Amino acid sequence: MRRFLVAGNWKMNGDSAANAALVAGIIAGLEASDGVDVLVCPPYPYLAAVAAQVSDSSLLLGAQSVSEHTAGAFTGEVAPAMLQEIGCRYVIVGHSERRALYGETSEQVAAKFQAAQDAGLTPILCVGESLEEREAMATESVIAGQVAAVVAVSGVDAFASAVIAYEPVWAIGTGEVATPEQAQDAHFHIRGLLAAENADVAANLQILYGGSMKGENAPGLLSMPDIDGGLIGGASLKSADFLAIVNAGVEAVR
Ligand code: 13P
Repeated sequence: MRRFLVAGNWKMNGDSAANAALVAGIIAGLEASDGVDVLVCPPYPYLAAVAAQVSDSSLLLGAQSVSEHTAGAFTGEVAPAMLQEIGCRYVIVGHSERRALYGETSEQVAAKFQAAQDAGLTPILCVGESLEEREAMATESVIAGQVAAVVAVSGVDAFASAVIAYEPVWAIGTGEVATPEQAQDAHFHIRGLLAAENADVAANLQILYGGSMKGENAPGLLSMPDIDGGLIGGASLKSADFLAIVNAGVEAVR
């Protein structure tokens, strides 16, 4: 059975005081989160402080991006081993904001995915189509290309220790959420891409939905057979909002 994973991508938000309050609020609500893994991904400067704060709890820690290089003259970059050393277990790779705003290519994302795994981190690979691509009926081919770039470097078996997040770009930060059926179709497609090469890996892969997910729409999304959790932006910044999604996962497990 796949466990649910509810992950908060804080993006470039927060400060020391707000983060401490947010994490304390999440941890306080975790006692009732049986069967659901819960993860936060703060900005780099706060990772060490949050690592210390979560150390006695079940709250998991991840980062929002990572270098594809191991060390050296890469000003401003952060190596996978550095994240691993300070307590991160996960790292997001290929978020659409990284792809669109910072020009990350699918080949670069694939290199980051492999570098993360080499350092013992679990990559959360983000895939998803833009509005233009959806309207051009290209959703499945866009996703297939994004997944294929990683498979070409790491192979399908690498997804035994990875997570995929389906994040339709048109639903990110817009308030416009994919319907459960639209998301399910995409998740089913993603699982099928991997199942064609390794049925076990595909069956065990956690596939998260991301894009304007909130407490109100989470129950419908999480009731779908191929949706195994969420990657949450805006609603991960308040503990009550985030815990509402965690609780929707707890209810869906039952
Ligand atoms: P929102 O939940 O704010 O739409 O962001 C989703 C996202 O990009 C998570 O990575």
